[in-house]
Order: sequence, then structure tokens, then C-alpha cells
Amino acid sequence: MLNIALPKGRLGEQVYGMLKEAGYPCPALEQPDRRLIFENEKAGVRYFWVKPHDVTIYVERGAADVGIAGKDILLEYSPELFELLDLKAGNCRMCVAGPADFRDNRSRMLRVATKFPRIAGDFYAEKSRDVELIKLNGSIELAPILGLSDVIVDIVETGRTLFENGLTVLEEVCPISARLVANPAAYRFRREEIDTLTMRLGEVIKASGEREN
Ligand code: PRP
Repeated sequence: MLNIALPKGRLGEQVYGMLKEAGYPCPALEQPDRRLIFENEKAGVRYFWVKPHDVTIYVERGAADVGIAGKDILLEYSPELFELLDLKAGNCRMCVAGPADFRDNRSRMLRVATKFPRIAGDFYAEKSRDVELIKLNGSIELAPILGLSDVIVDIVETGRTLFENGLTVLEEVCPISARLVANPAAYRFRREEIDTLTMRLGEVIKASGEREN
């Protein structure tokens, strides 16, 4: 049975829909209950619901063979796993945001609040801009409002959180989407199964792209 770590929440449900369409349904998972593990022997899959941030930990340590992780997590933590497919789901952007009238004064250290210190650090290192990184765990938008930082580096999906907090996108760092990732050892030993899954998911993505056009 192929062990698949799904991120709990809207993205996981969307990706499960794609897996179902790809031939890996699991009726037990569609029941409204609080179980975290589900299997469909016939389809050869066992699904786990895990916190989105933890998917790469399960996959990296081999508790899951494959999983669905955001590109933000892959860039931030560089886990040792194979990235197999861009699922073109959970699309959003990693951005620098701040007050609309913000102007960077390069003679001063720039204070940047973020959940993603490595992504933010790499972004500013590339521009040779010295920054002080302030690591927060959420509600990042508060930081510039309360004067804790000058700007933030965070995920923007609809832009609503920024807008409702009087902030705006100042620069785009990179696009983000969900990726299918695999444990390297699992990929060696179960290559055929994992390649089939990847190929079928690729077909589902292509078909949905064609439906949209
Ligand atoms: C993320 C991100 C923004 C928000 C962006 O937060 O950190 O706050 O979503 O989405 P929007 O552009 O559609 O408004 P998340 O929901 O993960 O919560 P958090 O603040 O606890 O990290």
C-alpha cells in the first residue's frame, strides 16, 4: 500500500479530489469524522491527514512514501526528498508587503518580519540588502502596523488579509504552489507505483487545465 500524507485543510481536500480522479479514491476519507488515517486496499493507498507544515517531516522520515507540500515549505526547509510534480493547486505568491507609502532607506537596517526567515534572507542577500529578520509564527501583518518591523515577507493568496490590515504588496519574491514529494528510499523501492501515481495526477492536472481553457 502506498502511504500518502495529505495536508489537513482546504488544500488537502482539493488534492484528494485530484487523487480520487486519478484512480486513488478512498470512501472512508470522505466520511465526516475525526479519524486521521484511511485506507483503500483495492486502490492500494493509505492516506494520513497531517498538519501542512508537517508533511515533509513524515515524508522525509519515511512514515509516508509521498505527500503534498507547499513550495514555501520546500524552499524554507530544503527537506531531503524528491519533488515530483507541480500540482498547480494552492497557488499563491510569496511577497514583501508593507504600508503603501513605504520607501526603503538603504542607510538603515531593514526590519523584516516573517514565518520564512530563510526565503526572506535569501531574497535580500541576493540584493545585497542588510536586513534584521524577525521570526514570527503567524498574524505577520501585525508587525509593521505595530512598528515591530518595516515590512513583512509572507504568503499572499487573495490579498484580503493585507488589504484589511492597510498593507499592500511591495515586491513579489516567488510564486508558490503545492508539490507532490516523495521519500528518496521509497522512490527507489516503489518507483513503478510512484511513477504511475505521478503520471495519473499529471493527466488530471492537464485535463482540468483543458477544461478551464
Ligand atoms: C496566510 C498568510 C496570510 C494569509 C494570506 O496565513 O500568512 O496571513 O494566509 O491570505 P490572503 O491573501 O488570501 O488573505 P494563514 O491563514 O496561514 O494564517 P497565519 O497568519 O496563522 O499564518
